[in-house]
Amino acid sequence: MRTQVVIVGGGPSGLLLGQLLHRKGIETIILERKTRDYVLGRIRAGILETGLVDMMREAGVSDRMDKECFIHHGTCISYENEMFDINFQELIGQNVIVYGQTEVTRDLYDARDACGGRTLFEVEDVEIRDAETDSPHVTFTIDGSAKRIDCDFVAGCDGFHGVSRKTIPDTVRKDYEKVFPFGWLGVLSETPPVHDELVYANSARGFALCSMRNEHLSRYYVQCDLDDDVFEWSDDRFWDELKRRLPESVADKLVTGPSIEKSIAPLRSFVCEPMRWGRLFLCGDAAHIVPPTGAKGLNTAASDVHYLFKGLVQYYQDNDTNGIDRYSERALARIWKAERFSWATTNMLHRFPDQSEFDLKMQRAEIESLHYNETAQKWFAQNYVGLPY
Ligand code: FAD
Ligand code: DHB
Repeated sequence: MRTQVVIVGGGPSGLLLGQLLHRKGIETIILERKTRDYVLGRIRAGILETGLVDMMREAGVSDRMDKECFIHHGTCISYENEMFDINFQELIGQNVIVYGQTEVTRDLYDARDACGGRTLFEVEDVEIRDAETDSPHVTFTIDGSAKRIDCDFVAGCDGFHGVSRKTIPDTVRKDYEKVFPFGWLGVLSETPPVHDELVYANSARGFALCSMRNEHLSRYYVQCDLDDDVFEWSDDRFWDELKRRLPESVADKLVTGPSIEKSIAPLRSFVCEPMRWGRLFLCGDAAHIVPPTGAKGLNTAASDVHYLFKGLVQYYQDNDTNGIDRYSERALARIWKAERFSWATTNMLHRFPDQSEFDLKMQRAEIESLHYNETAQKWFAQNYVGLPY
């Protein structure tokens, strides 16, 4: 087989890149290790920045999003019984939308089907070869038979556990990592959201987050121990713990019900540099991870896709390599700022096992600065709605 760009990974990064390139007449083949149902069954991000929303429009996949999304003009932060709102619209004239990653992915798969784009599911043993030359190729097995695709470029969109990042030799690649000493237990429930905006809660019992997908579907998280087993968390235990971490005015309104999904995710900050090796480009979780506080994971994946898409179009349309040559530098400049925001927000809102009384006072002072200082709120708002591309 031959194509212009092989995309390894059929998550949101790979699908969005494939759709944008297709609209410019650039051919791709997507290789996905799992089934489509498996990819669509993963409950992940829920908040989209304007940059990602604009790219969904540019990719021609925004009809359902525009109809079904909820616009959020701000977000709430609580500490014990205090709660305040950071109003992005008033502070900086921008907002975010609530539209789940599952829906983004579904819309992108539907669009790919409609335009006849090729996606191969359940591929195994993917290997990226000769990426440092002008004629890379990708080998894999599917239904037990070995295959090879020759291509101009490879986009490594295969997430944190994929093969793409590991293809870059250790002598070239440097990984930066911080692992946090706790996880998030997330619950999806068919109950109305407790509040019309998200609530990020700092409490003596640990962090909690109230989010949503629509008016009948809520998404909640509580900070948990890394070695907690999800089966030890009955629905009753989860609701009870969540309530104890929220201000009374919010907890009193909480509508509980059976969970329809429950999972634990570890929290880490991770960046791999560079994000390009020869004709291999890393995008999204393949290159970097943020702790989820601040909802940057999916949105940073989208900004990578933006820079890579622009670079590839410049290459194919104008025979100009400037965009792909500067891809890693441009993507990383934005990534590190999103890493800093996610790390700072995680530090501000969680309880750490080794936190001293002094550390707690510092954390409290930081939250109060955000509560009462408009400049601090503007910084938060600019980062939350997403830095410009
Ligand atoms: P992925 O979504 O990971 O997609 C990569 C794809 O590549 C997958 O479909 C995988 O099956 C495939 N793949 C992997 N290896 C191979 C291979 N060898 N060959 C072929 N295919 C391969 N972000 C937020 O903003 N908010 C959240 O609440 C949030 N919650 C999260 C919860 C969890 C458990 C995780 C893991 C992430 C969460 N994130 C969240 C982060 C966000 O979901 C990711 O940033 C986003 O999915 C990145 O998209 P991606 O396409 O780069 O990677
Ligand atoms: C969601 C997840 C986040 O990490 C976040 O900061 C906001 C919302 C969510 O899943 O809805």
